[in-house]
Amino acid sequence: MCGIVGYLGPQPAAPLLMEGLRRLEYRGYDSAGLCVLNGGLHTVKRSGKLSSLEQALAEGMPEGTVGIAHTRWATHGPPNETNAHPHLSRDGDIALIHNGIIENANALRTVLGREGFEFVSDTDTEVVVHLIDHLWAEGMKLEEAVAAALGEVEGAYGIAVISSRDPDKIVVARNGSPLLLGIGEGGEFMAGSDAAAVVGVTRNVVYLNDGDYAVFDRQGYRIFHRDEGSVDHAVHEVHWDMEAIEKGGYEHFMFKEIMEQPTSLRDVARGRLLSEEGDARLGGVTLSDRELAQVERIIILGCGTSWHSALIGEYLLEDLARIPVDVEYASEFRYRNPVIEKNTLVIAISQSGETADTLAALREAKQRGATTMGIVNVVGSTIARETDFGVYLHVGPEIGVASTKAFTSQIVALTLFALYMGRRRNLSVLEGRRIVQALEELPAQVERILTLDEQIQEIAREYAEASNFLYLGRGYQFPVALEGALKLKEVSYIHAEGYPAAEMKHGPIALIDEQMPVVFLAPRDPVYGKVVSNIEEVRARGGRVIAVVSDEAPELDGKVDHLLRIPQSVPYLLPVLTSIPLQLLAYHVAVLRGCDVDQPRNLAKSVTVE
Ligand code: AGP
Repeated sequence: MCGIVGYLGPQPAAPLLMEGLRRLEYRGYDSAGLCVLNGGLHTVKRSGKLSSLEQALAEGMPEGTVGIAHTRWATHGPPNETNAHPHLSRDGDIALIHNGIIENANALRTVLGREGFEFVSDTDTEVVVHLIDHLWAEGMKLEEAVAAALGEVEGAYGIAVISSRDPDKIVVARNGSPLLLGIGEGGEFMAGSDAAAVVGVTRNVVYLNDGDYAVFDRQGYRIFHRDEGSVDHAVHEVHWDMEAIEKGGYEHFMFKEIMEQPTSLRDVARGRLLSEEGDARLGGVTLSDRELAQVERIIILGCGTSWHSALIGEYLLEDLARIPVDVEYASEFRYRNPVIEKNTLVIAISQSGETADTLAALREAKQRGATTMGIVNVVGSTIARETDFGVYLHVGPEIGVASTKAFTSQIVALTLFALYMGRRRNLSVLEGRRIVQALEELPAQVERILTLDEQIQEIAREYAEASNFLYLGRGYQFPVALEGALKLKEVSYIHAEGYPAAEMKHGPIALIDEQMPVVFLAPRDPVYGKVVSNIEEVRARGGRVIAVVSDEAPELDGKVDHLLRIPQSVPYLLPVLTSIPLQLLAYHVAVLRGCDVDQPRNLAKSVTVE
């Protein structure tokens, strides 16, 4: 959700804060603001996208070498200028930015109201700055006042605070919302919600844990834990290519990331394929073969797109390793009373590694004794750090709010893990080799699918004004149908539903008429014949059919409105191939409708609130 950034160092803070915000804008774009310390506090904030703040600063930026900045995804109160962060104390001498939700905000508001504090915004955040002000006793340092206030606060937060009462210092704190410190050369420090915010200044980062707070000033930085006192955390180097967080000539990140998939699919499989042995090498899987053999059940947790790849993981692990698998929405799992038997492995899938629901569900599973595994993209993220072991995607930052390259590489990571588990059980070396070969062929096949772009643009032109879409698939293609519908909804705001193709006749078939575009996932796999029959059922009722099919599909030649042909692969990997035309379709429809594809309304890339 919201993005926070802080800077203290020798350079003017405002331009670096703005650069940090530009790289964090995908986390929220309802409003933006910054505050720079220079004698007093100089605050500028605007509602709307970062460009409004940029315009406001065009005449000149506040001067000073210490500052904080924020980009907001609204939780409490509309996205107007008053509710934009930073929020200030009543004398305007403390400024605070926040990502998360303060759960006891109403109670604190009442208490502070009685003490004479007046609230100008509707936000939960404003209570924290007044609380710091209220508890800041004579002789205290900023960090002591912040620590005292956080002792009263319940909920999730990543915060950064500056004050003219104790200048030349930034205090940050984390509980449930991501936060890291960038440790530059020569007394230069940045703080950010993720590494994108700080890589302009340094690649050396320290990840904060829940309960940590940190101070940086001209002397250096110090980290404390609310219960343990002073703590020491290792400095990690972020191996990010700066180009990865720029658009590199593309109009949108979403399109760039779709086009990057041949590379991202190579990256996720790099060094992990054993062709001769028909096996996978997964350095991050630290359980012994004996421990893996003891796994009797797997639960996979995720949200949104990651939940869709979890569904594909269920099919993969059951097919290749013959282990029973359940897939759970993380947001539901955490509030149920889930049964976790001994020998259950819980896998959390998350691109960002920070999704609040997935993290909470993971913690619930750990508490109930499960062994936990992460399939995560962002290195050093909370889910990656809190799982017992895991597999990183290694596909670089995904900035477009609609997940594309992370989804296809999650499928590959799950295939690798299912292969690994299978080969330690009953999967034959021959079948293993067939899968490895298919994985090796995948990037080139995706390159070929990307050449369908023009044909897909044509199709998009024909259906850009549609009000509804149906996506249908069976077996491995059912989760792809769900994902195709989600992509279209997210970026074009067209209502779309994904359904198992055979379920259509139990209800959704009533929706079919000449106005209804139906996207069928019909590659040549064991249920192909059945899907062809479902296509006939739609055609018989006048539905407009767009079918994603294998190169050889004579049964459908000339029988549907549009055929998108993809190369053949093993059924396990066909979801990677079939999902790419759907990503392109959603993208082009959204562009034609004039939607902001990288920053769709109401969405944020990393959902760090419940
Ligand atoms: C994908 O296009 C979405 N924007 C969203 O559903 C996302 O997949 C979900 O919020 C989970 O995110 P995560 O993978 O970072 O946990």
